[in-house]
Amino acid sequence: MGRIESLPLHSESIDVAWLSTVIHQFDDRDTAAGELHRVIRPGGRVLVRGFLSDVTITGLFSMFPGIERSADSFPSTDSVVSSFESAGFTLDRVTDVVEPWEFDLVAWTERVRSVRHIDSGLRPLTDTEFDKGLQVVTEAFSATNGPIASDGTLRLVVLRK
Ligand SMILES: C[S@@+](CC[C@H](N)C(=O)[O-])C[C@H]1O[C@@H](n2cnc3c(N)ncnc32)[C@H](O)[C@@H]1O
Repeated sequence: MGRIESLPLHSESIDVAWLSTVIHQFDDRDTAAGELHRVIRPGGRVLVRGFLSDVTITGLFSMFPGIERSADSFPSTDSVVSSFESAGFTLDRVTDVVEPWEFDLVAWTERVRSVRHIDSGLRPLTDTEFDKGLQVVTEAFSATNGPIASDGTLRLVVLRK
């Protein structure tokens, strides 16, 4: 456990850092990248998985009006790569990963309501947009019995020290 700005790890003590849907929450990405550069061994990798502003939103959230504003609040791929390159990393590759999943409409709706004011993608929406999004998803899938198949795309940025 610890914060990215000051990791409780010895210098050059790890081979891989896996940053999953977290990069958009860092206050200072340059400091984060510098700290990762300190703790990763030469030849090690950072894998950044997340929603980035230049990746088209797919899946259920794409059905919410106003979701483009949420996307715009995320960092771009270029800005993430730039922070890591400034810290001494080299870009290895950028790839988009389609992640299939199944959901139950009632459970999904409850979960989305419970994170409405904390989820970075939902927070920027107005109440009207949020309610409309739930309505559109419900109307689209309410006739479906059992689990509903969907998928979402997240970007994976791999950097090498
Ligand atoms: C959307 S959650 C992702 C959780 C998990 N990695 C996953 O993929 O499901 C974002 C996480 O980033 C963490 N976080 C935000 N700012 C951070 C920071 N400066 N240092 C370390 N973790 C941070 C939060 O505590 C939260 O657990």
